[in-house]
Amino acid sequence: MIEIDVFTLFPEAFAWFASQRHVTNALAGGLRLGYVNYRDHTPLSAGQVDDTPFGGGAGMVLRVDVVEAALRARYGRDPVELGDARRVIALTPSGRVLDEALVQELAAEPALTLLSGRYEGFDERVLEHFATDRVSIGRYVLAGGELAAMVLCDAVIRKQPGALGHEDSAVEESFSAALEGGPEYPHYTRPAEFRGWSVPEVLLSGHHARIREWRLDQSRSRRQPGPLP
Ligand code: ADE
Repeated sequence: MIEIDVFTLFPEAFAWFASQRHVTNALAGGLRLGYVNYRDHTPLSAGQVDDTPFGGGAGMVLRVDVVEAALRARYGRDPVELGDARRVIALTPSGRVLDEALVQELAAEPALTLLSGRYEGFDERVLEHFATDRVSIGRYVLAGGELAAMVLCDAVIRKQPGALGHEDSAVEESFSAALEGGPEYPHYTRPAEFRGWSVPEVLLSGHHARIREWRLDQSRSRRQPGPLP
């Protein structure tokens, strides 16, 4: 089971996330989910973690010495070497955009370290010397990396054995091999008829082969034009 450490200035922001069923299931199955507050390890006075950018400009930048101290405190080694042992992922809007392929890749890792930034982001030397990966959850700028780290954790943790409770849940979901990498088919539940809007007849037929075929057809027809992921 995977081990994930999240470095953040706001560990308390993860409390709701960590209480979600798929996370508690994974925790019960051996997931280790830890948090490190950069502020707890800063070598600077008064809990300082950030500074103004050289060259001027708006905002504050998370300092490289602060990130180094936090990584060193957690792992007891020079963080420059940490990448040999685990993926160290900096969440940044300009990173590789998270998609199903990357989620699968990361979910298969034994251990991940997530670095969330705040303010204007990280001193570039954090990305250059400590991070093995830069990941973005989309081409827009969030006020900080916590939500991005949570998105990544959510997607990776639900892939862990036992996280979803029902082992088939992830088999036929959007972008899965069972759907040829395509989006998921439409779902319906009771009532079978509501305001004249009825559920497709085939789903009520109990005919499993026809249902499977209909779902695959629906998934195929929902694909965006262009190459599959
Ligand atoms: N930090 C701020 N914006 C972000 C984004 N879009 N993805 C990842 N980390 C971020």
